[in-house]
Amino acid sequence: KSSLSDVKERTLIAIKPDGVQRRLVGQIIQRFEQRGFKLVGLKMLQASQDILSEHYCDLRTKPFYSSLLRYMSSGPLVVMVWEGHNVVQTSRTMVGSTNPAEAQAGTVRGDFSIHVSRNVIHASDSVEGAQKEIQLWFQSKDLLDWDCWDQTSTS
Ligand code: PPS
Repeated sequence: KSSLSDVKERTLIAIKPDGVQRRLVGQIIQRFEQRGFKLVGLKMLQASQDILSEHYCDLRTKPFYSSLLRYMSSGPLVVMVWEGHNVVQTSRTMVGSTNPAEAQAGTVRGDFSIHVSRNVIHASDSVEGAQKEIQLWFQSKDLLDWDCWDQTSTS
């Protein structure tokens, strides 16, 4: 037997430097909260080349790799872990296509961006990828396993 409350799937979402610069942090967090996901980790940092080269290790041979690392280290990121049923796949849908020109309206990229080199947000692309990325960016002590309060009780 399983129920929604048993599900502990988690994903890593990062608001990229252009998203922070453009003051989109609140609106992006609001979308994930409204959808019903639970925030279990959150931090703001300026990423080092070391962590970014690990995060993007599969893209080493891509022509855009060095400009991607420059962009991602150019200012603060807001890095988050969100939890909930099917959160990896649903987040990818909410984020929209990598290339904002192909992203549907209603997605983060479809609503807030126009170019792939400034596409506002990162979301893990698989459950295994999410686990690796969460381990890279967070210590397990900084991920909180909290329960929703029963709003009817105050004691
Ligand atoms: S690929 O080529 O299929 O591996 O690329 P893709 O999976 O679509 O994207 C991987 C990440 O690279 C970013 N990307 C770019 N950054 C800068 N410039 C260009 N041209 C570019 N193309 C792809 C893309 O946003 C993905 O980063 P994340 O952080 O996962 O969104």
